[in-house]
Formats: sequence, C-alpha cells, structure tokens
Amino acid sequence: SRVVKLAVIPGDGIGPEVIAEAEKVLDAVTADSGVVFDKTRFSLGAGRFLDTGETLTDDDLAAIAANDAILLGAVGGKPGDPRLKDANIERGLLLKLRFTLDHYVNLRPSKFFVGAPGPLSDPGEIDFVVVREGTEGPYVGNGGAIRKGTPQEVANETSVNTAFGVERVVRYAFDLAERRRKKVTLVHKTNVLVHAGAIWQRIVNEVAAEHPDVVVDYLHVDAATIFLVTDPSRFDVIVTDNLFGDILTDLAGAVTGGIGLAASGNINPDGAFPSMFEPVHGSAPDIAGQQKADPTAAILSIALLLDHLGLTEESARVSAAVEADIAARTAARTTAEIGSAITARL
Ligand code: NAD
Ligand code: IPM
Ligand code: MN
Repeated sequence: SRVVKLAVIPGDGIGPEVIAEAEKVLDAVTADSGVVFDKTRFSLGAGRFLDTGETLTDDDLAAIAANDAILLGAVGGKPGDPRLKDANIERGLLLKLRFTLDHYVNLRPSKFFVGAPGPLSDPGEIDFVVVREGTEGPYVGNGGAIRKGTPQEVANETSVNTAFGVERVVRYAFDLAERRRKKVTLVHKTNVLVHAGAIWQRIVNEVAAEHPDVVVDYLHVDAATIFLVTDPSRFDVIVTDNLFGDILTDLAGAVTGGIGLAASGNINPDGAFPSMFEPVHGSAPDIAGQQKADPTAAILSIALLLDHLGLTEESARVSAAVEADIAARTAARTTAEIGSAITARL
C-alpha cells in the first residue's frame, strides 16, 4: 500500500486540541483506502521555546522536510507575552517553514455552508478561494530600525515583489480559475503602492492574455473588504499579496461562519518540498485548554491535504461530512464532540 509520510506539528494553545480531532478524521477516512499515513510528531512552538529556548533547529527543519506533507495546528503565545519577546515564533517557525519549503501559494478557500453561524442575513452563494502569495511581500523581513527608542527612530519594513514570485502565483490563480467559475480578481492597492502595484497589475494582464475565457477584475484592498461583506458571491479566485491575503482571509472566515471553519494549504505546487496544511486561525490563548475551539478548520485542512495528495474521493468525503455536520448544528458542543460527530459521518 502507498505510504505517506506526514509531519504533525500540533503547536500551542488550541493547536493540539484541534489537531487531535483532525487526526481522528484522517485516520477514519483513510482506514480502508490502501493509503497508510506514517506520522512523525514534532513538538514546536511557544511551549517548546519556553522549555528549551529553541524555536526551529536545522535538525527539526531537515526532519520535517523529509516528509511528504505537514499538518500544523497553530503556533504562538498570547500576543504581548513578555517571555516570548525574543522568540518570534511567527517568523522563526511558521514563516521559516513557509519560506524554506517554498510555499508560494497560500491557498485559502471560503465556502458558506448552510447552517453556519455567519453574520450575514442573506449570505447567498459564497464560494471563493484566496490565492495568497506566500513567500514575498512585506513578510520577507527586509527591514530594520535605527535610533531605536529615540524620538528620531526610523523603522522600515520593505515589501519585496519579484517578477518570478508574482508570476508563479498569478499563473496558479489563473489555472485554478480555469477549473472553477473562470474569474480572477486581483486585490492590491495600486493607487498608493505604485511600484508593487504596477508589477502585480502588469503580470496579471500578461497572464490574462493567455486565458481569454477567464474574466479579470481588480479591486483596491479597502474596497475588497466592503464587497467581501456586502457581495461575497462576486468572487471566484482572488489573487493577492502576502499581507493583504492575511487580512482578507480572517475577514472571509468571519463572513462564512467563523474563523473556526477556515482552512488553508501552504502549497509548493512544484512538489520540490512538502506542502503544509493548517487552519487559518491562531493558537487562540483566550479559549485554549477549554475544549471550546471549533476543530472544523483543522478538519477541512485535512480535506485540502487529501486533495493535494490526489486522494480526491477521501477529500470529498471529509468535506461532505463537515457540510452535513454544519447543517445539523444546534447546541454548543466541545471540540472533541464536534470532531467525533464529523468522524461518525464518514
Ligand atoms: P487567533 O486566530 O488565535 O484568535 C482570534 C480570535 O478567534 C480569538 O477570539 C479566538 O478565540 C478565536 N478563534 C480562533 N480559532 C478559533 C476556533 N478554532 N474556534 C473558535 N474560536 C476561535 O488570533 P490571535 O489572537 O491574533 O493570535 C493568537 C496567537 O496565534 C498569536 O501568537 C499569533 O501570532 C498566533 N497565530 C498563529 C497562526 C498559525 O499558527 N498559523 C495564525 C494566526 C495567529
Ligand atoms: C496566518 C497567520 C500568520 C500570517 C502569522 C502568525 C505569521 O496570521 O497564518 O494567517 O500572518 O501568515
Ligand atoms: Mn492570519
């Protein structure tokens, strides 16, 4: 039988709680599939840093990279925790994985499932995917500060946008749109960020010319936040830079029933490195350890993982089980109750 080596990084806060449920689902859906998941667990995150002073060693990175795929819960402590001031778990762990493993497509689907507790009175058909660039933009760490702590302090954070980096993610977005409703919306801020905006718009125009059947739209990011709330069904594929994509996908999660439902894949489409699947949300220190987290985002991340591995039938079964569970939701349930209910539907 086929063996898939899977690195599992439960992480901090609600990470281990939601990953436990995601693993229940993965184990159940692959039980008779002829595919065996050979899992290796990695203890990483704020907890590990507090215990050992380590964030992500070269050995950790090499061991993780030796897998076929990665499942991650969430990492990071309570924002502002002084003990983590020098750790920078986000850059040193999460972004280091995304950058080193060349996860240039951060794939974040948003679908409204009937019964989900969204804030919109008439959500309509919401089914879009944000293709967020994952390796460039303001995230690269190309910045610095001088005269720190003085009234003359200057702090810079430079956004890096390369033709190579923009083109490969834009091509991915158009190829995805070809398999969907054939619409790509570029979201940027070309009116103000003129240099970065120009390269994104030029490359979208060039790639669009190769896809005459795909409708191309453009929105400034501020206007995009309006339409995500007032008319989300206008979107099919949104392609955008790393920071705009981060912000839009928390909003998209909220609009489609809560951040506890939003899944993501950090994809290396070339297959040179393992792709990493994780909920969009963080470690939620405010509800950690109380079985209050919704594990659905982690479970839908399993669906993305299965799809990425070519296990399309298993992936569809997980999505269908989630959809049925959401449709039947009534009383509040614990994290484990939700995971067990979805597992039982497989
Ligand atoms: P967060 O996503 O952890 O929490 C925001 C809000 O959403 C909180 O009120 C939380 O209770 C709620 N929430 C999140 N997930 C939920 C779930 N599954 N079910 C129900 N409610 C849920 O964002 P934050 O508070 O800004 O960040 C907390 C920590 O997580 C920080 O250290 C941050 O850097 C880190 N973080 C990590 C990741 C990741 O690992 N991919 C992503 C985002 C934030
Ligand atoms: C996310 C998170 C991360 C990001 C942080 C924790 C680095 O917010 O996965 O959306 O900004 O990408
Ligand atoms: Mn985010």
